[in-house]
Amino acid sequence: MRYRPVVVEDARQIVAAGYDVIAQEYLDWSARIQDDPRSRFVDLLLARLSPGSEILELGCGAGVPCTAKLAQRHRVFGVDLSAKQVELARLAVPGARFAQADMTDLDVPPASLDAVTAFYSILHVPRAEQPALYARIASWLRPGGLFLAALGASGNNGVDADWLGAPMFFSSHPPARNSVLLRQAGLRLLVDEPVTMHEPEGPATFHWVLATPAGR
Ligand SMILES: C[S@@+](CC[C@H](N)C(=O)[O-])C[C@H]1O[C@@H](n2cnc3c(N)ncnc32)[C@H](O)[C@@H]1O
Repeated sequence: MRYRPVVVEDARQIVAAGYDVIAQEYLDWSARIQDDPRSRFVDLLLARLSPGSEILELGCGAGVPCTAKLAQRHRVFGVDLSAKQVELARLAVPGARFAQADMTDLDVPPASLDAVTAFYSILHVPRAEQPALYARIASWLRPGGLFLAALGASGNNGVDADWLGAPMFFSSHPPARNSVLLRQAGLRLLVDEPVTMHEPEGPATFHWVLATPAGR
């Protein structure tokens, strides 16, 4: 991959504009990943939630497969930076609510959510901003609430000039650093598992975490 550094103000614009162009391409590409563990981890979360739980999904994309599965028994609010992704999600999952919004700039009352999910989305948030985001997520969760995420694990930070047909910004820490940052944000890790899956281009590792507010 060819990466170039990016100033943080550009990052969101690159991500939003990129997914507006490649939303359908991303959906088709991700459906070709045979061993994507998303369903396994969503099932792990679902087994721990009571029906009608309040879930906030960060970077929901087109709403499939995760939002759709979560919305079968729960009240789901999905946010995404890309207008096109939100449009697709509204069509695919009429039983959930969606908004075009930046996950780092949400106004969520403290201790109001049963779960927060983020599948392959925080890896598009500049990594310098990820600690503050984790702290906000911890504050939004009710006691015993759950945060399920597939975080980046590569340590990349910059723009891939052509990812599925558009420039795309990626930013992540290695798993050991993710874990430290999550703990520092007040989250206790119940699952802390780097998982390698096989994208059409080859193997790729993501850091799966399930966490709950520590001491609450
Ligand atoms: C790799 S896609 C994953 C989509 C979906 N979660 C899935 O599993 O298919 C990442 C998504 O995160 C969204 N995203 C990236 N940064 C965001 C931000 N700061 N706020 C909200 N959404 C964001 C992108 O627009 C994109 O739809």
